[in-house]
Amino acid sequence: MDSPVNVNVPRWTPSPGPTSRLIREPVITHHDPADSISDSFASSDNNKLGFPFSIGGPQPDDGSIESSSLRVDSDVGRSMEIIMDRTRGSNLGIGEEKINVVGPGGYLERDVSGGVYLTWKDLWVTVPAADAAEGRRSILAGVTGYAEPGEVLAIMGPSGCGKSTLLDALAGRLDSNTRQKGDILINGRKQALAFGTSAYVTQDDTLMTTLTVREAIYYSALLQLPDSMSRSDKKKRAEATIKEMGLQDAIDTRIGGWSVKGLSGGQKRRVSICIEILTRPKLLFLDEPTSGLDSAASYHVMSRIIKLAKQDRRTVVVSIHQPSGEVFELFHNLCLLSSGKMVYFGSALAANEFFASNGFPCPSMRNPSDHYLRTINKDFDIDIEQGFNATITATEAIDFLAKSYKSSETYQQVQQRVQHICSKSGPPLEKTKSHAGFITQCLVLTQRSFVNMYRDLGYYWLRLAIYIALCLCVGTIFYDIGHSYGSIQARGSMLMFVAAFLTFMAIGGFPSFVEDMKIFTRERLNGHYGVTAFVMGNTISSIPYLLMISVVPGAMAYYLVGLQKSIDHFIYFALLLFACMMLVESLMMTVASIVPDFLMGIITGAGIQGVMMLNGGFFRLPDDLPKPFWRYPMYYIAFHKYANQGFYKNEFEGLNFPSELGQSRTISGDEILRSVWQVEMGYSKWVDVAIVFGMVIVYRLLFLGIIKATEKFKPMIRGFLAGSGK
Ligand SMILES: Nc1ncnc2c1ncn2[C@@H]1O[C@H](COP(=O)(O)OP(=O)(O)OP(=O)(O)O)[C@@H](O)[C@H]1O
Ligand SMILES: [Mg+2]
Repeated sequence: MDSPVNVNVPRWTPSPGPTSRLIREPVITHHDPADSISDSFASSDNNKLGFPFSIGGPQPDDGSIESSSLRVDSDVGRSMEIIMDRTRGSNLGIGEEKINVVGPGGYLERDVSGGVYLTWKDLWVTVPAADAAEGRRSILAGVTGYAEPGEVLAIMGPSGCGKSTLLDALAGRLDSNTRQKGDILINGRKQALAFGTSAYVTQDDTLMTTLTVREAIYYSALLQLPDSMSRSDKKKRAEATIKEMGLQDAIDTRIGGWSVKGLSGGQKRRVSICIEILTRPKLLFLDEPTSGLDSAASYHVMSRIIKLAKQDRRTVVVSIHQPSGEVFELFHNLCLLSSGKMVYFGSALAANEFFASNGFPCPSMRNPSDHYLRTINKDFDIDIEQGFNATITATEAIDFLAKSYKSSETYQQVQQRVQHICSKSGPPLEKTKSHAGFITQCLVLTQRSFVNMYRDLGYYWLRLAIYIALCLCVGTIFYDIGHSYGSIQARGSMLMFVAAFLTFMAIGGFPSFVEDMKIFTRERLNGHYGVTAFVMGNTISSIPYLLMISVVPGAMAYYLVGLQKSIDHFIYFALLLFACMMLVESLMMTVASIVPDFLMGIITGAGIQGVMMLNGGFFRLPDDLPKPFWRYPMYYIAFHKYANQGFYKNEFEGLNFPSELGQSRTISGDEILRSVWQVEMGYSKWVDVAIVFGMVIVYRLLFLGIIKATEKFKPMIRGFLAGSGK
């Protein structure tokens, strides 16, 4: 097995054991020139000289924290002193101590001038275990920590250790199958995050694949930035942010998705970051912002984020896999997790000493973060070389480090710092109020959705092609239907096909709609706009396409079959077809709000429509439907009843069917409507179309209601379940 360390490398002397006092250890006495602290220090000095990454990197500013002091200071001992004071700040009157050590812009000022203080205490997250008999499995096991304004907290740990879960828990976005215990406080208060109080760049990129980088960010700027800002300023902000993230060369490239290749993974990552930093949020969560990026791009992206945190005292929490040495040095605090357990929380720079003092010194020439991760990754349970050339397994090393951390002074300091922050409850974190107004949001969403529908072949174009093909089939099968007795049944069947099966096809756009819903969910959680604006945008943008689909193929079927010739009748036919398609879309929207998976959604939607079709009054005549349930209320709920009756009235009213048997009697359309189709003749065909439009509104309101209710009640249910301790 690969030895984790180079045997020739001078080592730190292993510490006496788990009770080692971390920060207070006089580091300088242990210091060896080959040690990594001096390495990292040297590289910091390199930064100062401008090589390799210092150009454009974050410059120490007034409010900069100890890491910048470290860079400026060439004395290791003094640097560590500063770190010590910083972590000790919680013990003593933080103001005094900080002002002494950090000087202007130190803790005192920060505490007074506001910003977002995020703390979590004894946080547990559990999920059902694979084997139901085992109860629940914990993903996070009693972790405690904090994030402060002007600082960046890096969460690190092996894959699957719970980084995203911690971020989700902090941002209030845990999955519904999880249970959370422990306090998460914002400025010392319990507060539900999400919906605009914080910004969260999730691990997966959910972007509108049909837009270019410029469009995606510009639309987002229009949605998020206030109306008081001019369009040209918003455009400038969007373009500046694109440049900040180094995307200028890809600015006119479409994002692309599974069907069309567009941006690379790393570029998509940066687009996601751009969208969330447009408004400079007060609290920013980033789940692996640098995955897919090369080391230079990672450095630049992270340094911009850190600059953002420092400039306006933003609070930033980042989970990260493989930071390079340069990137690692940018972090203020480090939270190291392994299998949900906290292995270390504290100053990023002091972590080196923690590992060293516990017998896991970082070999020279090795990136400290690589060393930490290698030590605490038990997935491949390697033997880790400890001091004195002893080897232990990774599992043992993790347990040892976790115990050592719990008994360390750093742990006490973190607890005290959390306690201190909690005791000074500040103002609640408010939702960003400076968003674009409702009308602007509706207009922008309509425009964006229209462009997306236009470019996404699967949304309407494919459907148009299928409708044309189907209507040609209908037109040729029922070609020139005539007015014979036999045409009565044929007319009824043809109209039924239009009302039921043609509208059923509206289900075809569901996968594209589910993609839209994912984007909506992300943007909604980040508070970019409201549910009503989304519904309005989606409804209005789909109207031209649905009109096109009902008029063009509709006309082909209508005139090939030879239904009533007058234009009024055709207009009614196309209008009712349009209303039914909108209704099916609205129904599918409601389904999507409950079943977000597209395959399950299609099956559910098809099932619901199948039932409605069955009792819409064609396959079983209305009078023959069993009264309980099928007649009352299902028959009245099924939109097919109104669609069938509207189409029948439109076609049969005013027609006469001469007898084929040479009898003088002709049958009027009215008689057929009453006796053959059992249509309710007490009201006009326009009432039927109005009812269908009314149903469209009801379904869209239902969608709105479900989303709003989920937003309101989900946190309450979670809170209740967490309270019951299950
Ligand atoms: N809702 C859930 N239901 C069941 N298991 C879950 C759930 N969420 C997370 N897990 C499990 O918890 C563990 C931690 O997941 P998490 O996504 O937080 O890891 P991570 O540290 O972010 O990993 P990566 O670095 O690969 O993104 C994983 O084993 C995952 O399968
Ligand atoms: Mg993750």
